[in-house]
Amino acid sequence: MDLKLNGKVAVITGAASAKGIGNAVARSLAGEGAMIVVSDIIEEGIQTLAADLQTGDIRTLAIRADQSKLSDVELAIETVIAEFGRLDILVNCAALTNNYGTVARMAPEKWEREIGINLNGAFYWIQQALSIMKDNKWGRIINISSVAGNFGTTGLPCYAVTKGAIHTLTKQVARENANSGITCNCLVLGIIATEIYERSGIDQATVDRLVEHIPMKRMGQPAEVASMATFLCSEQASYVTGAVMPVDGAFSISV
Ligand SMILES: NC(=O)c1ccc[n+]([C@@H]2O[C@H](COP(=O)([O-])OP(=O)(O)OC[C@H]3O[C@@H](n4cnc5c(N)ncnc54)[C@H](O)[C@@H]3O)[C@@H](O)[C@H]2O)c1
Repeated sequence: MDLKLNGKVAVITGAASAKGIGNAVARSLAGEGAMIVVSDIIEEGIQTLAADLQTGDIRTLAIRADQSKLSDVELAIETVIAEFGRLDILVNCAALTNNYGTVARMAPEKWEREIGINLNGAFYWIQQALSIMKDNKWGRIINISSVAGNFGTTGLPCYAVTKGAIHTLTKQVARENANSGITCNCLVLGIIATEIYERSGIDQATVDRLVEHIPMKRMGQPAEVASMATFLCSEQASYVTGAVMPVDGAFSISV
């Protein structure tokens, strides 16, 4: 199937980790011929990825941005337009995932910081991207979320709240742009084998317990998320918008 992604310009946020989902999405879209812009607050990983994906046909760019700052996102979008003259696809992967215990114990400044990255950051990227996609009457926005957004989760109170809000943001953006060639969808992930758990301070016993609850009895792989994201970015997914779609080995229907 030709996904008709050749020459499209895709921005993927949160792509610094070599084992992360953003990295896998960037590789998958590049494999379909898209031009790739990777962004993250960590510079090193995105520079390596951009260099790795650059070939004769595929042009790439790495842009460091702290997405909790509107000015960083505005500058990033200006750079994309200066370099490529267009923006067709936005995959919102970046998020902060830290173990902050409970709502009762979470420091307000940490709450605000996490809302700033996970929710405000996604909003900034979407708003900036829409301003360009609307002129082109074509766009694909994919938000990467979590089953934590459906029913909360142990140790990640603000993360769960931001992911729930991302589900609603997805539907809102889909409704508002349904008539303009722009789709907005959300992938709701279960447990995917990246470094997020080590980084977030969730211990291995908790991860093992979660995996035990997954009917497929295994973690998902970043490539299994990337293939679904890539399809939703394609022309063939033109009638899919506002979907909040599990990619979770049936985790969300087992609890
Ligand atoms: N791995 C899983 O099991 C899982 C499950 C559910 C949802 N998710 C979601 O998938 C996405 C990717 O996660 P991942 O597992 O690849 O982990 P990851 O930690 O590799 O990816 C998150 C990225 O976001 C970046 N980031 C953090 N703060 C930022 C900021 N202020 N500005 C810009 N970038 C910033 C990080 O540097 C990191 O590279 C996240 O949205 C995460 O919530 C992952």
